[in-house]
Amino acid sequence: MTGAASGIGRGIARALVTAGANVALADIDEGRLADVAGELTDAGGVVSTVVLDVSDPDAWATAADRVEKELGEVSILCSIAGVVGTPGPIERTPFAVWRWVQSINVDAQFLAISTFVPRFKLRGTRAHVLNCSSMAGLTPMGFVGSYAASKFASVGLSLSLREELRDTAIDVSLLVPGTVATDITRTAAAGEAKLLGRDAETTVAEANAAIAAAGADPDLVGVQVVEAMQARQFLIPTHPEFGVPVAALHAEIVAAFDGLDGRHGPDPAAAAFADGGNPIVSADLVNAGVTND
Ligand SMILES: NC(=O)c1ccc[n+]([C@@H]2O[C@H](COP(=O)([O-])OP(=O)(O)OC[C@H]3O[C@@H](n4cnc5c(N)ncnc54)[C@H](O)[C@@H]3O)[C@@H](O)[C@H]2O)c1
Repeated sequence: MTGAASGIGRGIARALVTAGANVALADIDEGRLADVAGELTDAGGVVSTVVLDVSDPDAWATAADRVEKELGEVSILCSIAGVVGTPGPIERTPFAVWRWVQSINVDAQFLAISTFVPRFKLRGTRAHVLNCSSMAGLTPMGFVGSYAASKFASVGLSLSLREELRDTAIDVSLLVPGTVATDITRTAAAGEAKLLGRDAETTVAEANAAIAAAGADPDLVGVQVVEAMQARQFLIPTHPEFGVPVAALHAEIVAAFDGLDGRHGPDPAAAAFADGGNPIVSADLVNAGVTND
């Protein structure tokens, strides 16, 4: 469980312990991680902790080996850690902040998958990958461009992963929360300030923290997520009212196809899709060993 020291990650960790799972808690925040571990141990849970910067490609294999030695084979991988930059127009976002957000919100989900999915495939037993995106990954939101791009990327990554794992014992779920009452704006503002070597931008963080405070209880989100994973549900939204802007975006996408005059002729990839195939990696290419797998 990445992002286990706070908010939604901690909520899911609590719900998993209640459901009887042993949980490996990973986070960059050593102090809060120890607090959560103490609380869960006191509640009778079996947990281990690993201080992990999820964006560090060199840290994953060691972290995975350690928790599997301590707790046994991991079978549920939850990538929950995430950050958001100070809101503002895309063109004024420092590139360092853009990269920081992508590295934690999406690169780390890739690193998690490349560390654990090979282990899951080798074992062949039932396993589950949970990624955390956001309503900012399903609806258009201005002034959080780096965050929105990372969360749309998480949706794409998770959809691709689901396709690739269709014939395996590995399920994929994608959490797409609306507003949840966590410390994300303050935590992320502190992280961003450290990255840029300046004081935290507290005015915006505090205004957004006030909105977040009226959001869902992260522990109840944790319970919902565990129930959804047990039901092998792919998409896990939290708030029904977000269905309206999601439907509006999808209606806009579908409407863009109306009235196309077919001037480019038939699309061969679309034909493969219509037959339920994969236009990018045909069975011929896989059999010829041309892919990375
Ligand atoms: N709170 C919301 O309203 C909301 C809405 C939609 C999506 N989300 C997503 O939910 C996820 C959890 O966020 P939250 O709201 O619980 O925030 P949070 O700040 O309470 O928890 C995030 C955790 O991630 C950890 N983290 C940050 N950078 C890390 C790194 N490099 N390596 C390891 N751990 C790191 C933090 O230390 C923190 O414990 C995020 O992916 C966020 O984008 C949150």
